[in-house]
Parts: sequence; structure tokens; C-alpha cells
Amino acid sequence: MCEYRITGGRPLAGRLTVQGAKNSVLPILAATVLAEGESVIHNCPRLTDVSATLGILRLLGCRVAQEGSTIRVDASTLERNCVPDRLMGELRSSVTFLGALLSRCGGAELAYPGGCQLGPRPIDLHLKALRLLGAQVLEEGGRLICRSRGEMRGQELCLSIPSVGATENAMLAAVGCRGVTTIVGAAQEPEIEDLQAFLRAMGAEIEGAGSPMIRIFGGKPLHPAEHRVIGDRMAAATYLCAVGAAGGCVALSGVEPSHLTAVLSVLEEAGADIHTGDGSISMACAAPLCGVRPVRTAPHPGFPTDAQAPLMAAFSCGTGTTMFVENMFLSRYGHVGELARMGADIQVDGRVAVVTGRRLHGAAVRGSDLRGAAALVVAALAARGESQVSGVEYILRGYENLDSDLAALGAQIQLV
Ligand code: EPZ
Repeated sequence: MCEYRITGGRPLAGRLTVQGAKNSVLPILAATVLAEGESVIHNCPRLTDVSATLGILRLLGCRVAQEGSTIRVDASTLERNCVPDRLMGELRSSVTFLGALLSRCGGAELAYPGGCQLGPRPIDLHLKALRLLGAQVLEEGGRLICRSRGEMRGQELCLSIPSVGATENAMLAAVGCRGVTTIVGAAQEPEIEDLQAFLRAMGAEIEGAGSPMIRIFGGKPLHPAEHRVIGDRMAAATYLCAVGAAGGCVALSGVEPSHLTAVLSVLEEAGADIHTGDGSISMACAAPLCGVRPVRTAPHPGFPTDAQAPLMAAFSCGTGTTMFVENMFLSRYGHVGELARMGADIQVDGRVAVVTGRRLHGAAVRGSDLRGAAALVVAALAARGESQVSGVEYILRGYENLDSDLAALGAQIQLV
């Protein structure tokens, strides 16, 4: 089993180019099956979730090649639309193959998706949207069997929650439908805009991503396309929280500041000195972060739930008190008990967590989900003495080079 050995107490300094966005590249790779021919995707991060998605594409019969951060997918040779449990269970966004395969093949047979254990993660909104577009969806023996009954037709789809995954699945299915689909109450995350950009490059007629209303004029002939994935705002948020915890000064490039507005404003309120430019963010922190007004997670453009854990870790070694309210997932405080082993003072009551900053000490801690594990690394950078952080397999799902990047910024971190 591998772990990070981290000796805290060193400020971070330097420049970093942020990896491509995990939550953008995954649905875009699923979208490559929409057309015969070779699509080329640039700025793809090297993550285990990406490898798992390439495993699904290969299993479906696509030819896949990866060179550095460029991935080529030739979907001309797609020959099946059925994905086994073991591949589906590795990650959450495998579910977006449902919409993509329905559009391409008129059917799909998948197991339920996996992904981080953050409490209940139903897909009822995904299935409701696909049924409204005309798909027959059977749920049998833990499998989803979807068939389009004749021609699928565009509809108005109202999402009761602006679900990222359900919005993506509806977009991928709607490009294959005849007529207009309107998604009302759509997710507005930057990754949705990036998916729209790729679908447009494939020849789809689609508008409104980034707003609560997306319109898809379906049935257009699609062709393969070339696309550069946006920078990973969650990886960027994690590096900024690391600076908030350990102190120092870092310049990030390859990420859009406007994708992180809610995070940047909390860090500024906590005392960080932040400057932004075109595709760049720099942050300096001369003192521990101070407590701020309550941080409530919400759909974009609200405060992102994926930044909750790294930010909580940074506040746990700051000064003052901050209240967090986790509104997106029922149990996304798996990191709290581990931070407490490092001496953190965090009181949890249901969705509310109250963090009082204090000096942390090194300890052996274990991550149990992607962002929670990253939060333990953030805390260890500020803690007195050495920490052993295990659960690295979760980190490799979403961060390409967390340890070497932090080491390049002066952190004492080693993967053992
Ligand atoms: C995406 O997950 C991200 N994953 C998550 O990031 C992120 O936390 C989440 O969006 C919210 O921003 C990817 O993009 C691969 P949702 P997703 O559907 O699509 C409920 C990370 O760390 N819901 O927007 O699964 C759901 O239970 C990961 O990178 C339903 O009730 O999230 C949740 O409470 C973790 N029914 C809320 O909506 C549905 O059919 C938001 O979920 C779908 C969702």
C-alpha cells in the first residue's frame, strides 16, 4: 500500500501549470462515441478515472491512443453498447455513456455507476430525462437496459436539481433526437460549457450551456472533432488551499479564474492576497487564514462541494471559526475524523461543521474519497512533524501529480 510522507511547516513558493479538468474530460471522452471517425482531445490529465474511461471505450470496440496529454479515440470500430459492472463501478461519470450510446446505437446496457461514497447518489433524474426523450429504460438485476423506441424526439426537460451528470446525459441523448430539446434548470458548471463546446465542434447545434436553460437542436449529422479541455478548477482550488494552509506564494496558469470565483472570494475574505489574469491566478498568504462567514456548498456558481474538504483543512490550521454547510451530498465529511487525529477542532452536526483553527500535528491518516484525501495532504503541509497519508488511490483518481507538484513548490512530500 502506498502513502505520502509529509513533513509540514514549509511555506510553498513557485509556479504551476494546472492539469486538464477531470470532470470535463470524462463526459467528453464518452461523447467521442457519437460519431464515426477519430476525435482528438488535448490537455487530458493522466488519472485512473481517465484510464477507466479509456478501458470502457476499448471494450466498446473503439481504437484509443494516448500520447502525453493527447488522447485519440476512433469510434468507427464501435461494435457493442454493453458495459460490464467492473468497469462501470470504477467511476461515476461512466453513466454518461448511457446518453451517448443511446444517440449512437439506439440502445445501451450498463451497470449502475460507481464513484466516491458521498452518501446517496441516485440517477433518477438521468433516467427520467431519457424516458421523456423516448427511451425505454428497464432496471433489472442491477443493470440498466435502455432502448430507443423508434425515433427519439426532443422534449422540454425540467431538472428538479441542477445535476451535472443528468444535464450531461440529457445533452448527449438530445443530440441524437429529432427536434428541439430544452433542458430547464440545467447545471451551469464550466464543465457543461466545455461539453457544449466539444459537441458543437462535432457539428451539434446547441446553445445556453453555462445558464439554467440549454437548447439542443437534435438530429444534426455529427463528425469527429478536435478539442482542448479546460483547466481543472478543483485541482487549482486544492493548490490554493495548500498555500492557505502552509503559507507562501504561488502562481497558477492554465485555469480560468472565473471558474473559481466563489472559492477565490472566500480565500480573499480569509486574508489571502489574490491576483488574477487571463488563464492565471496568483495567491500569497503571509499568515494563517482567518475565519470567515459561513461557507455553504451549492451548484455552480455557488461554492463548489468539491472544494469543501481542502478548504476545511486549510481553515482547520488557521485562526478563528468558520461554519460549513454541505448542501450537495449527505455524507461528505469523511475527512473530519482524520483531521481530528491531527489535532483539528471540527464539530459536526448533520450537514453543518464548525471549524476552529489551531496548530496541527503530524499523524497517520487515511483518505476515503478523492477530495477528502487531498484535504489530508493540505493539512499535513501545515502540521508540525511528519504525517503519513494513505488512501493515495483516491487521489490518483483526480490529481495527476499532486506530490511532485507540491514538492516543486518546496513541500517536503514523498510517495512511499
Ligand atoms: C459531479 O457529480 C462531479 N463529478 C462531482 O465531483 C461533483 O461533486 C458534483 O457534480 C457536484 O458538483 C463529475 O463530474 C464526474 P450531481 P454528479 O448529479 O454528476 C443529486 C469530484 O470530486 N442527484 O450534480 O454525480 C445528487 O445525489 C466529484 O470530482 C439526484 O438526486 O453530481 C446530489 O445530491 C465528486 N438524482 C446532487 O443531485 C440524480 O439523478 C448533485 O449531484 C442526480 C443527482
